[in-house]
Amino acid sequence: MDDIPQSILDEAKWLRDKINYHNYRYYVLDNPEITDAEYDRLFDRLIELEKKYPKIRTPDSPTLKVGGAVLKSFHSVPHRLPMLSLNKVTTEGGFLDFHRRILELTGLSEDKIAYMLEPKFDGLAVELIYENGVLTMGLTRGDGLIGEDITANLRTIRTIPLKLYNHGNVPKLIEIRGEVLLSKRDFENLNRQRSEKGEELFANPRNAAAGSVRQLDSSITASRPLNFVAYGLGVVIGVDIKNQESLLNYLKKAGFKTPKYAFLCHNKDEVIKRYNYILNNRDEYEFEIDGTVIKLNDFDLREKVGELSRSPRWAVAWKFPPSQEQTTVEDIVVSVGRTGALTPVAVLKPVHIAGVKVSRATLHNEDEVKRKDIRIGDTVIVERAGDVIPEVVKVIKEYRTGNEKPFEMPKKCPVCGASVERLEGQAAVRCLNISCPAKQKEYLRHFISRGAMDIDGLGYKIVEQMLDKGIIRDAADLYFLKKEDIFKLERTGNKLAQNILDAIEKSKHPSLKSLIFALGIPNVGEHLASVLAKEFGSIDALSEKTTDELITVNEIGPIVAQSIFDYFREERNIRFIEKLKKAGVVFPVENMERENLPLLGKTFVLTGTLESFTREKAKDMLEQLGAKVSSSVSRKTDFVIAGENPGSKIVKAKQLNVKIKDEKWLKKVFDSKGEIPENG
Ligand code: IVH
Repeated sequence: MDDIPQSILDEAKWLRDKINYHNYRYYVLDNPEITDAEYDRLFDRLIELEKKYPKIRTPDSPTLKVGGAVLKSFHSVPHRLPMLSLNKVTTEGGFLDFHRRILELTGLSEDKIAYMLEPKFDGLAVELIYENGVLTMGLTRGDGLIGEDITANLRTIRTIPLKLYNHGNVPKLIEIRGEVLLSKRDFENLNRQRSEKGEELFANPRNAAAGSVRQLDSSITASRPLNFVAYGLGVVIGVDIKNQESLLNYLKKAGFKTPKYAFLCHNKDEVIKRYNYILNNRDEYEFEIDGTVIKLNDFDLREKVGELSRSPRWAVAWKFPPSQEQTTVEDIVVSVGRTGALTPVAVLKPVHIAGVKVSRATLHNEDEVKRKDIRIGDTVIVERAGDVIPEVVKVIKEYRTGNEKPFEMPKKCPVCGASVERLEGQAAVRCLNISCPAKQKEYLRHFISRGAMDIDGLGYKIVEQMLDKGIIRDAADLYFLKKEDIFKLERTGNKLAQNILDAIEKSKHPSLKSLIFALGIPNVGEHLASVLAKEFGSIDALSEKTTDELITVNEIGPIVAQSIFDYFREERNIRFIEKLKKAGVVFPVENMERENLPLLGKTFVLTGTLESFTREKAKDMLEQLGAKVSSSVSRKTDFVIAGENPGSKIVKAKQLNVKIKDEKWLKKVFDSKGEIPENG
């Protein structure tokens, strides 16, 4: 380090701390303090310094979150303290037995005992080792005694701080345990993307999380929206934590996500009440949970009751009723989605799974039906994972009678009867009729959803009625609705009508990524929409890109590039976008760091007829480059662009000594993305 100037070392440290802090605000607290552009600037500067002086890259550098190392295999590393598993109970009686044993073992009365009740996450248990506050190693649970070193992958997870924050004194060593998870929503998005690409689907969020973390190439891990929730400890040297409640507080302050539903319970009835609360609210929970974990709060008491060889006696997992059930497939029908994709759906003999009646399960696409060999009449295992769409896990082939009927994808759209087609390299068979009514409905459902235009207060049922009654014909029509139109719906009073109009009005200022997602470009899900928004900054810029330009973007492959390109060249879509603009939907220009725009501070005036673009278009392009375009010439004008038959503005420009340029010059500026030619 001797050869590196102190000022550089200081700056790098300052940048690391700042970026780690803002990561925490953004990913853990969901409450960012700075704009994405400001954040990127800090990040880019750190990358620049580390490139120039590779030695300054410390193990807590946030640049390690980007991933990239490719490993041949994982190393085995023993845990300092075994990572135990939990005894399970499935009934209230089972829990009460556990409670009674705790009273016996501690010799205490109920009023002296407190439990922490937490959700039992269904993810991948890992251990993070922090030495002097810095993450130095991350291990899988493995067999409980020996884990695998997956440090490079864990470093890419946003909710794993590379350095602990906000703690008073830095512990010499602290091993933090918790679960790597994929939210239910991200899981569905990931599977949708995989289905569209014809890749094999993950069975559940747990498998998806585990599959993402055990990747030899950490850039794959980095591309998945993984989370980490902390709930436990291994070895600790240098801080004194006395109970689970203070542990969770400590972890929160140190920069971790902790379980959202964690309840300190002072008696058995409270535990039962909270268990039921979590059970009843599990669908609302961001992550898949399969039960609760009940832990003695006090660490000294834990010591006293001790542990068995594989599981502690101070904790128990109280699992939820099973979320898999056996039933039969009565039929396989086909539904048509917003992109025209035909999705096979199993019609099931209704079963109750975890308290909810299930009578349908998605089969995703033709290949999945083939892979799982699901036939009409089959006995199957169906799984309902939280509010994830129910799935057929597998067929029980032993129960086959020989009367089962294999499924065949129809050759015509089941809704409108038009031809269908399966494009090469894609898993989906699609209806070719662009105005297939099924597409319209599903598109509207998508358009108003969270993540897209987010028109809450306008449910699918209402939109469906509007379409059926001809009150709207497409999504853009929503923005032209009047109160009288809404009164035509069943049971709508003045108040509801006003709420609907307000909700629609509020949705007119979407973020760019929401707007891109809302357009419903085939193969562009929420994640890719945000990648595209970051990369191109506006719908206009995105729509002009060629497939070659699109492919240069990380994560965009040839299929996606083609569908984006095609989308913006289809007449119907062009008209739809124009209609949205006319309706007053604001098309944002984002993420272009405004202060870095090349023409910032320059004022242009356009006069006369331009040949290669309309004046509107030229104005648009200038503004995108940061320039101001004014309608009259003044001392503040930098350039007047004169087309054919310029007006009096030229005279004024000459009087004021303002530079006058022609269209050829302007094109040069555009071609060089905003550079003013040498001679001014
Ligand atoms: S505490 C002594 N808390 O359950 C073990 N574990 O069966 C203490 N798990 O491998 C673990 N949610 O993956 C704890 N809130 C929670 C948990 C939890 C899920 C998992 C963990 C562990 C397994 C044990």
